[in-house]
Amino acid sequence: MCGIMGYVGEKQALAVVVDGLRRLEYRGYDSAGVAVVSGGQLETRKKAGKLANLESLLGSDPLPESVIGIGHTRWATHGGPTDANAHPHVSEDGKVAVIHNGIIENFAELRDELTQAGVTLRSETDTEVVAHLLAAILPSTGMDLAEAMRLVCRRLSGAFTLVALHSDIPDVVVAARRNSPLVVGRGIGENFLASDVAAFIAHTRHAIELGQDQVVEITRDQITVTDFYGVPAEVTEYEVTWDASAAEKGGYETFMAKEIAEQPKAVADTLLGRVDAAGLLKLDEMRLTEAQLREIDKVVVIACGTAYHAGMVAKYALEHWTRLPCEVELASEFRYRDPVVNVRTLVIAISQSGETMDTLMAMRYAREQGARVLAICNTQGSTIPRESDAALYTHAGPEVAVASTKAFLTQLVACYLVALFVAQVRGNKFGDEISAIVRDLSDMPRKVDLVLDTSEEMKALAAELKDAPSVLFIGRHVGFPVALEGALKLKELAYMHAEGFAAGELKHGPIALLEEGVPVIVIVPSPTGRGLLHEKIVSNIQEVRARGARTIVIAEEGDESVVPYADHLIRIPACPTLMQPLVATVPLQVFAAAMAAAKGHDVDQPRNLAKSVTVE
Ligand code: F6R
Repeated sequence: MCGIMGYVGEKQALAVVVDGLRRLEYRGYDSAGVAVVSGGQLETRKKAGKLANLESLLGSDPLPESVIGIGHTRWATHGGPTDANAHPHVSEDGKVAVIHNGIIENFAELRDELTQAGVTLRSETDTEVVAHLLAAILPSTGMDLAEAMRLVCRRLSGAFTLVALHSDIPDVVVAARRNSPLVVGRGIGENFLASDVAAFIAHTRHAIELGQDQVVEITRDQITVTDFYGVPAEVTEYEVTWDASAAEKGGYETFMAKEIAEQPKAVADTLLGRVDAAGLLKLDEMRLTEAQLREIDKVVVIACGTAYHAGMVAKYALEHWTRLPCEVELASEFRYRDPVVNVRTLVIAISQSGETMDTLMAMRYAREQGARVLAICNTQGSTIPRESDAALYTHAGPEVAVASTKAFLTQLVACYLVALFVAQVRGNKFGDEISAIVRDLSDMPRKVDLVLDTSEEMKALAAELKDAPSVLFIGRHVGFPVALEGALKLKELAYMHAEGFAAGELKHGPIALLEEGVPVIVIVPSPTGRGLLHEKIVSNIQEVRARGARTIVIAEEGDESVVPYADHLIRIPACPTLMQPLVATVPLQVFAAAMAAAKGHDVDQPRNLAKSVTVE
């Protein structure tokens, strides 16, 4: 949730850290803070609100020059978003500064212990205890900062990435991680710590994955990783393929606008290299053998939010192409209901960030029950693919806007690829059937590009509807998850009531919400795909219209049957039924962003949210 950055090297640490925080701000933006060591003194500045508030504080109250520093951008858990609760937190002797992402579950106990020892805590956070615990160990024991960190970590429960600086040790930054993200960037004469690689790719592309329960010490020239008991750890170094400019706005007004526009390429990139000359799929990177795939008797998809909607679409594709039963479950619910999973279950965990705690915990639970877990993920080196039996990466590039767009489309593509690959391996489809579907998929980047042409219409519609108290979305089959996704986008960006329904379910209750002028967005399936499905939704449009709703109909080019019932008609390119979400979602993304902009909201950083949800 929070963004974390640490630096030691030759450059001005403050500039490097603040630039890194800017790239991490999507992770949390309630408050921000930095600490540097200069002339044997620890100096911090922190401020509630967005990073811009901290930057103006630094303008009026500058920090001294320094080559070592840490910085934090916060998504509040313990304690409101105030200056006092902003990180870094500093020990009473003013020597230790700590930043933290996660939740220290036993903090109340540690806080009582410190209070009894006479320490005065100055914030309501769980983090502050760590600064005091480190300070209490260091002078008396002669330990170094990494040793002290290991000792403290052994006392903590919960999830944490911690980064610490000590004023008497001006060339070392120490960090630790348990259940919370942390990557190391290896530079030349400089090293970095961050919540994700976006923070340092402008400086280095060499990254090191940190494992669970590890402590890392960085100096200008050295990176030392151990477990919490000081045992040296083997590390995996990898090359970051993301381009530094991919994490910039590149002339667009918002990251979200840029990421929506990047979708044709993101879809194409996710397909790239995954089809052989015969038009069949090759997913060798997935690390599951054909024998293992043949043993499966059930698929369970776990994910949260937008990724869950991708999982819902996956169910339709998987069941249709493989004839395997597929369940889709919200990751946050999964492990609490005693789910039936075993060695013959394939669990697919979908996550853009690869760090979502609900998904991670659900996935670990599934593995404990013997299930094989396949991660569909966008972030290299993140925890979920690392802990999975197999991984298929989406190639969306960095997604910076909090609301997920291009990651969703690429998750859909990855789900189609997995479903089709399973069908290919298990012989559910003939080779020529597989290659025909692959051809359809390969044409989707072009169709996603075409559908972007509806953007001006969607913006005009948003201008008209910006004061509507509520917007409803309906769809059937794969149009149902699209309806849910359209509503989620509108809620998170425009802060308004929006709900998605399975169109057939309306008459069982929600139809009571309809009154004169309520906008209802209808996702209409292809008339050539499943005739009955199409017919039913045309009836649903008439039902809502008869009750005074204002119908906004999203239908394929050439579908004339909907024309008489549409107050607004948005045309999308014709495509196979299962693939329609790839085009039908795009106008809804543009609509939600335009509604948010029309209401004067921050499109990239909606209130109360964070991009990567690393708490349960
Ligand atoms: C919505 C959105 C969230 C995420 C969800 C899962 O626009 O972005 O609903 O989809 O928090 O995140 P990941 O995919 O990182 O696990």
